[in-house]
Amino acid sequence: MSNVEARSGRPPAMRWEAPYLYLLDQRRLPHTCDTVTCRTPEEVADAIRSMVVRGAPAIGAAAAYGVAMEALRLRELDDADSFWRRLESVMRELVATRPTAVNLAWAIERMGERARSMRSQGPAAVARELELEAAAIAQEDVETNLAIGRHGAALVPTGAGVLTHCNTGALATVDYGTAIGVIRVAHEEGKGIHVYAGETRPFLQGARLTAWELQQDGIPVTLIADSAAGAVMSRGAVDLVIVGADRVTANGDVVNKIGTYALAVLAQAHGIPFYVAAPRTTIDLRTATGADVTIEERDGREVTHIGDVAIAPEGVNVYNPAFDVTPASLVTALVTELGVVRPPYPEALRRLFEAQHDIE
Ligand code: MRU
Repeated sequence: MSNVEARSGRPPAMRWEAPYLYLLDQRRLPHTCDTVTCRTPEEVADAIRSMVVRGAPAIGAAAAYGVAMEALRLRELDDADSFWRRLESVMRELVATRPTAVNLAWAIERMGERARSMRSQGPAAVARELELEAAAIAQEDVETNLAIGRHGAALVPTGAGVLTHCNTGALATVDYGTAIGVIRVAHEEGKGIHVYAGETRPFLQGARLTAWELQQDGIPVTLIADSAAGAVMSRGAVDLVIVGADRVTANGDVVNKIGTYALAVLAQAHGIPFYVAAPRTTIDLRTATGADVTIEERDGREVTHIGDVAIAPEGVNVYNPAFDVTPASLVTALVTELGVVRPPYPEALRRLFEAQHDIE
């Protein structure tokens, strides 16, 4: 089974070598490049829950491999009913690992539909097909990101200061990235951009992952505390903000990493365009607004500790939502693999799903 080749010297976020999935342990970056081997779908589910692998497209692809892994393990079963019971149960477990990113549910739904469409052919054939389907999800993600990068780079002026949040790069996807994909293309086109990466408290995806990824790829980056974003904007250093998304709802609301909403408000106050780069697999037309999305709340320890070091009094009450909702009214445009989508979003997003080719 072919894997997606990482485009730099960095180890890839995920590597499939049947029947196991190898994940770069993103909890330990940037200082340690460890690989976690997932031998069962339960181990894939644990890796998603504990953020060994994170980022909406990446958890979708990892979960798809988790389904393929179980089908391969059970392919010799004579008892087809046990095969199907077990496969459905694994899909339920994987989809429940994180509630907010719709890419996860999308990938599992696609795997389930593919499997069920072949039900009459028996476990061995289904397993073979599911391995191919997971690889297709991974491969398509990279192609999609390259297209997002090309469309988005047209929005980036020469010499621009670009502020981004969380990590939306090769680590958050199968490769290349969404918002960081746009940054990558703009950089490769020689636009001389400079990136400001917010540290992204509390899990520090910006500091630990984005700063590392961009530095490795030679893209000029300055790390800032999240609380410095307003000051950097007011100095005129930021020409645009670009972030990714975990879910874009039918009205254009954007659910993304906690802190995104604050950046969108700041961008509007400073007259700076606020762009969101996301594939169609992140757009959820079945959900009306951001208020209808379940926002994952994570362990308070992520806030009270940095690594193993406590930075807050023991026993303090903590609220730790992993995501927030940016209202569509604050989003200048969405960059997708088919082109740039502008308001009014309800109609534009519906048209995007009818489109077969680029929309521009
Ligand atoms: O909690 P995480 O690290 O999985 O959150 C990731 C984000 O919020 C990203 O911005 C989003 O998933 C898009 S990744 C291309």
